[in-house]
Amino acid sequence: MEDERLIELLVELHEGLPRLGPGNDESTLKALALCEHLPAEPEILDVGCGTGAQTLALAANTDGHITAVDLIPDFLAQLDKNVVRQGLEERIEIREADMNELPFPEASFDLIWSEGAIYIMGFDNGLTEWRPLVKPGGYLVVSEASWFKPNPPQEVRDFWNENYPAMRTVDENLAAARQRGWLPVGHFHLPKEGWVQEYYKRLGERLPVFRQANAADPDAQGVADMTEHEMSMYSRYSDFYGYEFYVFRRAD
Ligand SMILES: C[S@@+](CC[C@H](N)C(=O)[O-])C[C@H]1O[C@@H](n2cnc3c(N)ncnc32)[C@H](O)[C@@H]1O
Repeated sequence: MEDERLIELLVELHEGLPRLGPGNDESTLKALALCEHLPAEPEILDVGCGTGAQTLALAANTDGHITAVDLIPDFLAQLDKNVVRQGLEERIEIREADMNELPFPEASFDLIWSEGAIYIMGFDNGLTEWRPLVKPGGYLVVSEASWFKPNPPQEVRDFWNENYPAMRTVDENLAAARQRGWLPVGHFHLPKEGWVQEYYKRLGERLPVFRQANAADPDAQGVADMTEHEMSMYSRYSDFYGYEFYVFRRAD
């Protein structure tokens, strides 16, 4: 399947959903609370913001200015509607941009935030490429799929080897961050509700409608199969992996 078609189908599958991946406001705020001594009005960059669940949570819980960046205009349009509805136009600036080539001068931000998106360019690349954009002493917060326990069963190991072979343990990610000039300030597991209640439950409700609307399209059925398979993996093996929130401070 062409990348463009896959994106179209993923956009359709997630249309109107508040989140495009696992997460919840509670965890966003828990990670934010670990970013001590931010300025009163921090400059924040939200990379891979999607439809902006975490962007809106950050706006509601800081007095900062947030630049929300994503590559897919449909997701940004959905965020824009909420920004206008909540009267946040002065506080949230929406930009279409590629996370690999972020168009900002060095030391522009007190905090870079990225939930469930750094994997797209690779954890280590993100840590390296985004570091100069953060002011000295500023923060980087990311959530990233990570192994929680050793010796996962073969079935789940095969699944991730196929879908995200670069997935590492929490300790390996912490070590990678230290090597790239970041001081780990804190980290914690995204709770299971963030996967099941906030994301998979809604996605699961959407799937039959999506399948029916695309009954004659094998690509769409393939996307639905893949999604169901991913959900089934999590329901059986969530003790072995999940999203880890990492809070890093730029060490200078
Ligand atoms: C799993 S979603 C997470 C979205 C959002 N942070 C959330 O948790 O709901 C990953 C996001 O990364 C965006 N994305 C993919 N490739 C990108 C790129 N090269 N540059 C910027 N954003 C990208 C996707 O459009 C999508 O919105």
